[in-house]
Amino acid sequence: MDLGRPRVGKAQSELAHFPKGALLVEDGFIIAIGNEQEVLNAAKTAGDLLEVDCEGRCMVPGFVDPHTHICFAATREAEFSLRLEGTPYLEILRQGGGILSSVRAVATASDDELYANTLSHVQTALSLGTTSMEIKSGYGLDTENELKMLRVIGRVAADSPLDIVATFLGAHAIPEQYKTNPDDFITMIIKEMLPQVKKQGIARFCDVFCETGVFTIDQGRRLLTAAQAMGLGVKIHADEVNDLGGAALAAELGACSADHLLAASEKNIKKMSESGVIATLLPATAYSLRKNYARARLMIENNVAVALATDCNPGSSFTESMQFVIGLAVLNMRMTPAEALTGATLNSAYALKMADRVGSLDKGKQADFLLLEGESPAILAYHAGVSSVASVYKKGLKIN
Ligand code: NIG
Ligand code: FE
Repeated sequence: MDLGRPRVGKAQSELAHFPKGALLVEDGFIIAIGNEQEVLNAAKTAGDLLEVDCEGRCMVPGFVDPHTHICFAATREAEFSLRLEGTPYLEILRQGGGILSSVRAVATASDDELYANTLSHVQTALSLGTTSMEIKSGYGLDTENELKMLRVIGRVAADSPLDIVATFLGAHAIPEQYKTNPDDFITMIIKEMLPQVKKQGIARFCDVFCETGVFTIDQGRRLLTAAQAMGLGVKIHADEVNDLGGAALAAELGACSADHLLAASEKNIKKMSESGVIATLLPATAYSLRKNYARARLMIENNVAVALATDCNPGSSFTESMQFVIGLAVLNMRMTPAEALTGATLNSAYALKMADRVGSLDKGKQADFLLLEGESPAILAYHAGVSSVASVYKKGLKIN
């Protein structure tokens, strides 16, 4: 079993490796793992056994994707073209597009349409090796539609084999009617939305998008402090485009994670390290927005635990693939394959407070694992643009 903390510094690259290994599973949980002979000895005391020959494939934990906006009603291809022609992401939002166009699409979609769309993207993620994931609301922006999104996320969680954690992101953009008084929107979220979310028990975390033209650090602090007082874990979309000090706010509040961090300063990265905030990095967003990548090496050198996520959404990062994210982390953020694998499994499980059950192949945890078409986790970055995941197992059952 892991030591109960995310892997930082050198430990982020330390993987247990059994060249000729085996795994013993009972009722969906790992009861032994290690060298084949040792596991076979442990198996002698077990009941009826079904033996599966992995034919020499590399086995790794199922991916845990700790940051997605995968619950959406429509894609935004026209906006992608606008960005290719040079219109900045935040300018599109300022003009009423971007996140706000996804908000309009969610408002007009029925629960069933939103459910079907979300489930199909979740299934794509699963086929690519994701066995646990976080899904945010945030395309509602009013009480009715935020609750609708969280309800749909709950249905998807119940109907799909993945472990799914919901995050309430009511403060994702400023709705048109609050454009001149965003403080009032934050007050409304605290007074109206948060109590409903809490009462219905439909989210585990609260998140806020702190960015130029979106929410300020003070607004983020006010919201997240209220969320913490209600017992929710907190996360921040921090320093994605501009360095507003989101990383420092995460440190001040003892947030579970600060996410994005493309523009975070070294000083604030050190603050995150001191207060044990996980850096959830989303390299597919930097790729899609053509921005400089987050400074993963600096974070690892400063003992910040790095987790990796897709940020899957129809605007800034339209991918369900943790394999693609691992490839970008290795080749463009210069993480080693071992560091990237830890970031996509154990550290990301910690970023969702679910490392007691998932994120590594340790005795007592769920048997969520992948068989790779390759000799080592490096295949995930090396064989680009295709899936190297041959099979996906969730709680010991082959689901893909
Ligand atoms: O993490 N930055 C804010 N939210 C998302 C994008 C959502 C969207 O564009 O629809 C992000 O990049
Ligand atoms: Fe995001």
